[in-house]
Amino acid sequence: MMRETVRVELGERAYDVRIGTGLLARAGAEIAPLLRRPRVAVITDETVGALHLDALRAGLGDVQMEALTLPAGEGTKSWPHFERACEWLLAQKVERKDIVIAFGGGVIGDLVGFAAAVLRRGVRFVQIPTTLLAQVDSSVGGKTGINVAAGKNLIGAFHQPSLVLADIDLLGTLTARDFLAGYGEVVKYGLLGDPLFFEWLEDMGPKLAAGDTAARLRAVKRSVEMKAEIVARDETEEGDRALLNLGHTFCHALEAATGYGDRLLHGEGVAIGCALAFELSQRLGLCSQEAPSRVRAHLKAMGMKTDLSDIPGELPDADGLITLMAQDKKVLDGKMRFILARGIGEAFVTSDVPRDVLKSVLVDALARR
Ligand SMILES: NC(=O)c1ccc[n+]([C@@H]2O[C@H](COP(=O)([O-])OP(=O)(O)OC[C@H]3O[C@@H](n4cnc5c(N)ncnc54)[C@H](O)[C@@H]3O)[C@@H](O)[C@H]2O)c1
Repeated sequence: MMRETVRVELGERAYDVRIGTGLLARAGAEIAPLLRRPRVAVITDETVGALHLDALRAGLGDVQMEALTLPAGEGTKSWPHFERACEWLLAQKVERKDIVIAFGGGVIGDLVGFAAAVLRRGVRFVQIPTTLLAQVDSSVGGKTGINVAAGKNLIGAFHQPSLVLADIDLLGTLTARDFLAGYGEVVKYGLLGDPLFFEWLEDMGPKLAAGDTAARLRAVKRSVEMKAEIVARDETEEGDRALLNLGHTFCHALEAATGYGDRLLHGEGVAIGCALAFELSQRLGLCSQEAPSRVRAHLKAMGMKTDLSDIPGELPDADGLITLMAQDKKVLDGKMRFILARGIGEAFVTSDVPRDVLKSVLVDALARR
Protein backbone atom coordinates (compact mmCIF):
# COMPACT_ATOMS: atom_id res chain seq x y z
CA MET A 1 0.00 0.00 0.00
CA MET A 2 1.33 3.38 -0.97
CA ARG A 3 -0.57 6.31 0.45
CA GLU A 4 0.02 10.04 0.85
CA THR A 5 -2.08 12.95 2.07
CA VAL A 6 -1.96 16.55 0.89
CA ARG A 7 -3.92 19.10 2.92
CA VAL A 8 -5.60 22.00 1.15
CA GLU A 9 -5.30 24.74 3.79
CA LEU A 10 -8.45 26.82 3.47
CA GLY A 11 -9.40 27.56 7.07
CA GLU A 12 -12.81 26.14 7.88
CA ARG A 13 -13.08 24.83 4.32
CA ALA A 14 -9.76 22.91 4.52
CA TYR A 15 -9.74 19.31 3.35
CA ASP A 16 -7.49 16.35 2.65
CA VAL A 17 -6.54 14.93 -0.72
CA ARG A 18 -5.64 11.28 -0.23
CA ILE A 19 -3.51 9.84 -2.98
CA GLY A 20 -2.51 6.22 -3.29
CA THR A 21 -3.34 2.65 -4.15
CA GLY A 22 -6.29 0.66 -2.79
CA LEU A 23 -8.24 3.77 -1.80
CA LEU A 24 -11.46 2.72 -3.53
CA ALA A 25 -11.52 -0.46 -1.48
CA ARG A 26 -11.52 1.60 1.72
CA ALA A 27 -13.84 4.36 0.54
CA GLY A 28 -16.32 3.58 3.35
CA ALA A 29 -13.68 4.01 6.05
CA GLU A 30 -12.41 7.22 4.45
CA ILE A 31 -15.84 8.80 4.02
CA ALA A 32 -17.63 7.52 7.15
CA PRO A 33 -16.24 10.26 9.45
CA LEU A 34 -18.01 12.85 7.28
CA LEU A 35 -21.42 11.14 7.36
CA ARG A 36 -24.41 11.84 9.62
CA ARG A 37 -26.15 8.73 8.35
CA PRO A 38 -24.67 5.73 6.46
CA ARG A 39 -25.81 6.75 3.01
CA VAL A 40 -24.31 8.47 -0.05
CA ALA A 41 -25.54 9.54 -3.49
CA VAL A 42 -23.02 8.84 -6.25
CA ILE A 43 -22.99 10.32 -9.75
CA THR A 44 -20.73 8.80 -12.38
CA ASP A 45 -20.50 8.35 -16.15
CA GLU A 46 -21.23 5.22 -18.19
CA THR A 47 -17.59 4.32 -18.82
CA VAL A 48 -16.44 4.71 -15.22
CA GLY A 49 -19.65 3.15 -13.94
CA ALA A 50 -19.19 0.01 -16.03
CA LEU A 51 -15.55 -0.36 -14.99
CA HIS A 52 -15.48 0.68 -11.35
CA LEU A 53 -18.90 1.26 -9.75
CA ASP A 54 -19.13 -2.25 -8.28
CA ALA A 55 -15.72 -1.78 -6.68
CA LEU A 56 -16.86 1.51 -5.16
CA ARG A 57 -20.02 -0.13 -3.81
CA ALA A 58 -17.93 -2.89 -2.25
CA GLY A 59 -15.45 -0.37 -0.85
CA LEU A 60 -18.25 1.62 0.77
CA GLY A 61 -19.13 -1.44 2.85
CA ASP A 62 -21.95 -0.61 5.27
CA VAL A 63 -22.51 2.79 3.70
CA GLN A 64 -25.53 2.46 1.45
CA MET A 65 -25.10 3.87 -2.04
CA GLU A 66 -27.54 5.10 -4.69
CA ALA A 67 -26.04 5.86 -8.10
CA LEU A 68 -26.92 7.88 -11.18
CA THR A 69 -25.02 7.14 -14.38
CA LEU A 70 -24.75 9.87 -17.01
CA PRO A 71 -23.35 9.62 -20.55
CA ALA A 72 -19.55 9.95 -20.86
CA GLY A 73 -18.07 13.01 -22.54
CA GLU A 74 -17.84 16.79 -22.42
CA GLY A 75 -21.45 17.13 -23.64
CA THR A 76 -22.61 15.98 -20.21
CA LYS A 77 -21.30 19.19 -18.64
CA SER A 78 -24.43 21.01 -19.81
CA TRP A 79 -27.80 22.36 -18.62
CA PRO A 80 -29.85 19.23 -19.47
CA HIS A 81 -27.60 16.85 -17.52
CA PHE A 82 -27.16 19.38 -14.75
CA GLU A 83 -30.93 19.55 -14.35
CA ARG A 84 -31.14 15.78 -14.41
CA ALA A 85 -28.46 15.48 -11.72
CA CYS A 86 -30.17 18.04 -9.46
CA GLU A 87 -33.62 16.48 -9.85
CA TRP A 88 -32.19 13.02 -9.18
CA LEU A 89 -30.40 14.20 -6.02
CA LEU A 90 -33.66 15.72 -4.78
CA ALA A 91 -35.53 12.51 -5.61
CA GLN A 92 -32.94 10.64 -3.50
CA LYS A 93 -33.92 13.01 -0.67
CA VAL A 94 -30.35 14.19 -0.25
CA GLU A 95 -30.35 16.53 2.74
CA ARG A 96 -28.11 19.43 3.81
CA LYS A 97 -25.93 17.18 5.99
CA ASP A 98 -25.55 14.38 3.41
CA ILE A 99 -22.62 13.74 1.11
CA VAL A 100 -22.75 13.60 -2.68
CA ILE A 101 -19.93 11.76 -4.47
CA ALA A 102 -18.53 12.74 -7.87
CA PHE A 103 -17.05 9.55 -9.30
CA GLY A 104 -15.37 10.19 -12.64
CA GLY A 105 -13.14 12.54 -14.60
CA GLY A 106 -13.23 16.32 -14.77
CA VAL A 107 -16.59 16.35 -16.52
CA ILE A 108 -18.37 14.53 -13.69
CA GLY A 109 -16.36 16.39 -11.04
CA ASP A 110 -17.26 19.82 -12.41
CA LEU A 111 -20.94 18.95 -13.00
CA VAL A 112 -21.55 17.19 -9.68
CA GLY A 113 -19.57 19.80 -7.74
CA PHE A 114 -21.78 22.50 -9.21
CA ALA A 115 -24.94 20.51 -8.44
CA ALA A 116 -23.71 20.12 -4.84
CA ALA A 117 -22.99 23.86 -4.68
CA VAL A 118 -26.58 24.82 -5.44
CA LEU A 119 -28.60 21.87 -4.15
CA ARG A 120 -30.49 23.13 -1.09
CA ARG A 121 -28.11 26.13 -1.26
CA GLY A 122 -25.11 23.87 -0.83
CA VAL A 123 -24.42 20.30 0.28
CA ARG A 124 -21.02 18.75 0.94
CA PHE A 125 -19.41 16.56 -1.67
CA VAL A 126 -16.50 14.17 -2.10
CA GLN A 127 -14.43 13.91 -5.26
CA ILE A 128 -13.25 10.47 -6.35
CA PRO A 129 -11.34 11.47 -9.50
CA THR A 130 -10.76 8.68 -12.00
CA THR A 131 -8.69 10.37 -14.72
CA LEU A 132 -5.14 11.68 -14.40
CA LEU A 133 -6.41 15.14 -15.29
CA ALA A 134 -9.01 15.03 -12.53
CA GLN A 135 -6.54 13.65 -9.96
CA VAL A 136 -3.90 16.31 -10.56
CA ASP A 137 -6.13 19.24 -11.33
CA SER A 138 -9.91 19.44 -11.53
CA SER A 139 -10.81 17.59 -8.30
CA VAL A 140 -8.75 20.01 -6.20
CA GLY A 141 -9.50 23.70 -5.71
CA GLY A 142 -13.28 23.95 -5.82
CA LYS A 143 -13.92 25.29 -9.31
CA THR A 144 -17.18 23.73 -10.49
CA GLY A 145 -19.48 24.41 -13.39
CA ILE A 146 -20.92 23.60 -16.76
CA ASN A 147 -20.54 24.73 -20.38
CA VAL A 148 -23.19 26.84 -22.11
CA ALA A 149 -23.71 28.07 -25.67
CA ALA A 150 -21.69 31.22 -24.96
CA GLY A 151 -18.66 29.21 -23.88
CA LYS A 152 -16.94 26.71 -21.62
CA ASN A 153 -17.25 26.83 -17.84
CA LEU A 154 -19.21 30.08 -17.96
CA ILE A 155 -21.81 29.00 -15.41
CA GLY A 156 -20.44 27.72 -12.13
CA ALA A 157 -19.45 28.30 -8.55
CA PHE A 158 -16.52 27.95 -6.20
CA HIS A 159 -17.45 25.02 -3.97
CA GLN A 160 -14.70 23.09 -2.21
CA PRO A 161 -15.07 19.34 -1.72
CA SER A 162 -14.88 17.90 1.81
CA LEU A 163 -12.45 15.17 0.76
CA VAL A 164 -10.69 13.97 -2.38
CA LEU A 165 -9.79 10.30 -2.85
CA ALA A 166 -7.34 9.86 -5.73
CA ASP A 167 -6.85 6.14 -6.24
CA ILE A 168 -3.86 5.68 -8.55
CA ASP A 169 -5.01 2.18 -9.50
CA LEU A 170 -8.00 3.67 -11.36
CA LEU A 171 -5.62 5.21 -13.91
CA GLY A 172 -4.88 1.69 -15.17
CA THR A 173 -8.06 1.54 -17.26
CA LEU A 174 -7.63 4.91 -19.00
CA THR A 175 -6.94 4.93 -22.72
CA ALA A 176 -3.39 5.99 -23.60
CA ARG A 177 -4.80 9.15 -25.14
CA ASP A 178 -6.75 10.17 -22.00
CA PHE A 179 -3.73 9.37 -19.84
CA LEU A 180 -1.43 11.58 -21.92
CA ALA A 181 -3.99 14.38 -21.99
CA GLY A 182 -3.88 14.39 -18.18
CA TYR A 183 -0.10 14.30 -18.34
CA GLY A 184 -0.28 17.66 -20.13
CA GLU A 185 -1.50 19.19 -16.85
CA VAL A 186 1.27 17.40 -14.91
CA VAL A 187 3.93 18.92 -17.18
CA LYS A 188 2.23 22.29 -16.68
CA TYR A 189 3.04 22.23 -12.95
CA GLY A 190 6.73 21.68 -13.59
CA LEU A 191 6.78 24.41 -16.20
CA LEU A 192 4.98 26.97 -14.07
CA GLY A 193 6.82 26.56 -10.81
CA ASP A 194 9.13 23.62 -10.27
CA PRO A 195 12.10 23.15 -12.63
CA LEU A 196 13.35 20.10 -10.69
CA PHE A 197 9.97 18.43 -11.08
CA PHE A 198 10.10 19.09 -14.84
CA GLU A 199 13.60 17.60 -14.93
CA TRP A 200 12.33 14.55 -13.05
CA LEU A 201 9.47 14.23 -15.58
CA GLU A 202 11.92 14.40 -18.48
CA ASP A 203 13.61 11.43 -16.89
CA MET A 204 10.63 9.46 -15.54
CA GLY A 205 7.78 10.46 -17.89
CA PRO A 206 8.05 7.40 -20.14
CA LYS A 207 8.09 5.01 -17.14
CA LEU A 208 5.15 6.81 -15.63
CA ALA A 209 3.16 6.49 -18.85
CA ALA A 210 4.08 2.80 -19.06
CA GLY A 211 2.39 2.20 -15.69
CA ASP A 212 5.03 2.62 -12.96
CA THR A 213 2.88 3.05 -9.83
CA ALA A 214 5.50 4.73 -7.65
CA ALA A 215 6.24 7.26 -10.40
CA ARG A 216 2.53 7.94 -10.91
CA LEU A 217 2.03 8.44 -7.19
CA ARG A 218 4.92 10.88 -6.99
CA ALA A 219 3.72 12.85 -10.04
CA VAL A 220 0.14 13.10 -8.75
CA LYS A 221 1.32 14.07 -5.27
CA ARG A 222 3.69 16.80 -6.47
CA SER A 223 1.01 18.20 -8.81
CA VAL A 224 -1.60 18.25 -6.05
CA GLU A 225 0.86 19.87 -3.61
CA MET A 226 1.50 22.66 -6.08
CA LYS A 227 -2.18 23.17 -6.82
CA ALA A 228 -3.10 23.06 -3.12
CA GLU A 229 -0.45 25.62 -2.27
CA ILE A 230 -1.57 28.04 -4.98
CA VAL A 231 -5.27 27.59 -4.17
CA ALA A 232 -4.61 28.19 -0.46
CA ARG A 233 -2.89 31.48 -1.39
CA ASP A 234 -5.57 32.63 -3.80
CA GLU A 235 -8.79 30.62 -3.67
CA THR A 236 -10.90 32.77 -5.99
CA GLU A 237 -8.22 33.75 -8.52
CA GLU A 238 -7.58 37.37 -7.64
CA GLY A 239 -3.88 36.87 -8.45
CA ASP A 240 -1.51 33.90 -8.28
CA ARG A 241 -4.09 31.23 -9.06
CA ALA A 242 -3.96 32.46 -12.66
CA LEU A 243 -0.53 30.79 -12.91
CA LEU A 244 -2.40 27.50 -13.12
CA ASN A 245 -3.67 28.73 -16.47
CA LEU A 246 -0.27 28.42 -18.15
CA GLY A 247 -1.02 27.40 -21.73
CA HIS A 248 -4.77 27.86 -21.23
CA THR A 249 -5.36 31.06 -23.21
CA PHE A 250 -4.03 29.30 -26.30
CA CYS A 251 -5.79 26.09 -25.27
CA HIS A 252 -9.22 27.70 -24.96
CA ALA A 253 -8.92 29.26 -28.41
CA LEU A 254 -7.91 25.91 -29.90
CA GLU A 255 -10.72 24.10 -28.09
CA ALA A 256 -13.23 26.66 -29.36
CA ALA A 257 -11.84 26.29 -32.90
CA THR A 258 -12.10 22.50 -32.78
CA GLY A 259 -15.53 22.32 -31.17
CA TYR A 260 -14.61 21.00 -27.69
CA GLY A 261 -14.50 17.41 -28.78
CA ASP A 262 -12.48 14.52 -29.96
CA ARG A 263 -10.27 16.54 -32.32
CA LEU A 264 -8.52 18.07 -29.36
CA LEU A 265 -8.84 17.02 -25.71
CA HIS A 266 -8.45 19.68 -23.03
CA GLY A 267 -5.14 18.32 -21.73
CA GLU A 268 -3.79 18.07 -25.28
CA GLY A 269 -4.64 21.73 -25.81
CA VAL A 270 -2.87 22.59 -22.56
CA ALA A 271 0.31 20.87 -23.74
CA ILE A 272 0.28 22.67 -27.10
CA GLY A 273 -0.62 25.89 -25.27
CA CYS A 274 2.38 25.51 -22.93
CA ALA A 275 4.69 25.04 -25.92
CA LEU A 276 3.23 28.21 -27.51
CA ALA A 277 3.48 30.19 -24.25
CA PHE A 278 7.20 29.36 -24.02
CA GLU A 279 7.67 30.24 -27.68
CA LEU A 280 5.98 33.59 -27.05
CA SER A 281 8.12 34.17 -23.94
CA GLN A 282 11.26 33.53 -25.95
CA ARG A 283 10.20 35.94 -28.73
CA LEU A 284 9.57 38.61 -26.13
CA GLY A 285 13.14 38.10 -24.94
CA LEU A 286 11.97 36.78 -21.56
CA CYS A 287 13.63 33.38 -21.73
CA SER A 288 16.37 31.62 -23.67
CA GLN A 289 15.78 29.64 -26.85
CA GLU A 290 16.63 26.51 -24.87
CA ALA A 291 13.43 26.70 -22.77
CA PRO A 292 10.82 26.29 -25.56
CA SER A 293 13.03 23.65 -27.21
CA ARG A 294 13.11 21.61 -24.02
CA VAL A 295 9.34 21.87 -23.56
CA ARG A 296 8.69 20.66 -27.09
CA ALA A 297 11.32 17.92 -26.89
CA HIS A 298 9.72 16.46 -23.77
CA LEU A 299 6.17 16.56 -25.18
CA LYS A 300 7.39 14.90 -28.36
CA ALA A 301 9.34 12.26 -26.43
CA MET A 302 6.09 11.41 -24.63
CA GLY A 303 4.26 11.02 -27.95
CA MET A 304 2.01 13.96 -27.14
CA LYS A 305 0.44 16.58 -29.35
CA THR A 306 2.97 19.42 -29.39
CA ASP A 307 2.30 21.61 -32.43
CA LEU A 308 -0.72 23.01 -34.24
CA SER A 309 0.14 20.50 -36.98
CA ASP A 310 -0.78 17.70 -34.58
CA ILE A 311 -4.40 18.88 -34.58
CA PRO A 312 -6.38 17.20 -37.39
CA GLY A 313 -8.51 19.31 -39.72
CA GLU A 314 -8.70 23.02 -40.49
CA LEU A 315 -7.89 25.80 -38.03
CA PRO A 316 -8.70 29.54 -38.21
CA ASP A 317 -5.88 31.89 -39.28
CA ALA A 318 -3.80 33.81 -36.73
CA ASP A 319 -6.29 36.69 -36.46
CA GLY A 320 -9.13 34.21 -36.03
CA LEU A 321 -7.26 32.48 -33.22
CA ILE A 322 -6.51 35.81 -31.52
CA THR A 323 -10.21 36.70 -31.64
CA LEU A 324 -10.99 33.40 -29.94
CA MET A 325 -8.25 34.02 -27.36
CA ALA A 326 -9.80 37.37 -26.51
CA GLN A 327 -13.04 35.62 -25.49
CA ASP A 328 -11.26 33.87 -22.64
CA LYS A 329 -12.74 34.29 -19.13
CA LYS A 330 -9.41 35.69 -17.98
CA VAL A 331 -9.87 38.88 -19.97
CA LEU A 332 -9.73 41.80 -17.50
CA ASP A 333 -10.83 45.33 -18.47
CA GLY A 334 -10.72 44.19 -22.08
CA LYS A 335 -7.03 43.20 -21.85
CA MET A 336 -5.91 39.65 -22.46
CA ARG A 337 -3.88 38.17 -19.64
CA PHE A 338 -1.05 35.79 -20.41
CA ILE A 339 1.00 33.44 -18.35
CA LEU A 340 4.56 33.76 -19.63
CA ALA A 341 7.85 32.41 -18.30
CA ARG A 342 11.38 33.62 -17.62
CA GLY A 343 12.51 30.02 -17.81
CA ILE A 344 11.32 26.54 -16.97
CA GLY A 345 9.52 26.72 -13.62
CA GLU A 346 9.40 30.53 -13.63
CA ALA A 347 5.95 31.58 -14.83
CA PHE A 348 4.30 34.93 -14.16
CA VAL A 349 1.10 36.76 -15.14
CA THR A 350 1.11 39.74 -17.51
CA SER A 351 -1.19 41.74 -19.78
CA ASP A 352 1.75 43.19 -21.58
CA VAL A 353 1.93 41.25 -24.84
CA PRO A 354 2.16 43.25 -28.09
CA ARG A 355 -0.34 41.91 -30.58
CA ASP A 356 2.18 41.75 -33.43
CA VAL A 357 4.51 39.44 -31.46
CA LEU A 358 1.59 37.19 -30.51
CA LYS A 359 0.49 37.16 -34.12
CA SER A 360 3.96 36.25 -35.39
CA VAL A 361 4.07 33.24 -33.04
CA LEU A 362 0.72 32.02 -34.35
CA VAL A 363 1.52 32.74 -38.01
CA ASP A 364 4.72 30.70 -37.73
CA ALA A 365 3.02 27.91 -35.79
CA LEU A 366 0.30 27.70 -38.47
CA ALA A 367 2.94 27.72 -41.24
CA ARG A 368 4.52 24.61 -39.72
CA ARG A 369 1.26 22.77 -40.47
N1 LIG B 1 -12.48 22.36 -12.14
C1 LIG B 1 -11.25 22.54 -12.56
O1 LIG B 1 -10.43 23.15 -11.87
C2 LIG B 1 -10.84 21.95 -13.87
C3 LIG B 1 -9.47 21.88 -14.21
C4 LIG B 1 -9.11 21.27 -15.41
C5 LIG B 1 -10.09 20.75 -16.24
N2 LIG B 1 -11.40 20.82 -15.89
C6 LIG B 1 -12.44 20.24 -16.72
O2 LIG B 1 -12.24 18.83 -16.76
C7 LIG B 1 -12.84 18.32 -17.94
C8 LIG B 1 -11.93 17.28 -18.57
O3 LIG B 1 -11.72 16.26 -17.62
P1 LIG B 1 -11.24 14.81 -18.09
O4 LIG B 1 -10.12 14.95 -19.02
O5 LIG B 1 -11.09 14.02 -16.86
O6 LIG B 1 -12.47 14.35 -18.98
P2 LIG B 1 -13.65 13.28 -18.79
O7 LIG B 1 -14.27 13.42 -17.46
O8 LIG B 1 -14.53 13.44 -19.96
O9 LIG B 1 -12.89 11.89 -18.88
C9 LIG B 1 -12.26 11.52 -20.08
C10 LIG B 1 -12.75 10.15 -20.56
O10 LIG B 1 -12.20 9.14 -19.74
C11 LIG B 1 -13.22 8.25 -19.27
N3 LIG B 1 -12.76 7.75 -17.97
C12 LIG B 1 -12.72 8.40 -16.81
N4 LIG B 1 -12.10 7.68 -15.87
C13 LIG B 1 -11.75 6.51 -16.47
C14 LIG B 1 -11.05 5.37 -16.03
N5 LIG B 1 -10.56 5.26 -14.78
N6 LIG B 1 -10.86 4.36 -16.93
C15 LIG B 1 -11.31 4.46 -18.19
N7 LIG B 1 -11.94 5.54 -18.67
C16 LIG B 1 -12.16 6.55 -17.81
C17 LIG B 1 -14.45 9.10 -19.24
O11 LIG B 1 -15.62 8.31 -19.33
C18 LIG B 1 -14.26 9.97 -20.48
O12 LIG B 1 -14.68 9.29 -21.61
C19 LIG B 1 -13.11 19.51 -18.83
O13 LIG B 1 -14.50 19.77 -18.82
C20 LIG B 1 -12.38 20.65 -18.16
O14 LIG B 1 -13.01 21.90 -18.35
C21 LIG B 1 -11.77 21.42 -14.71
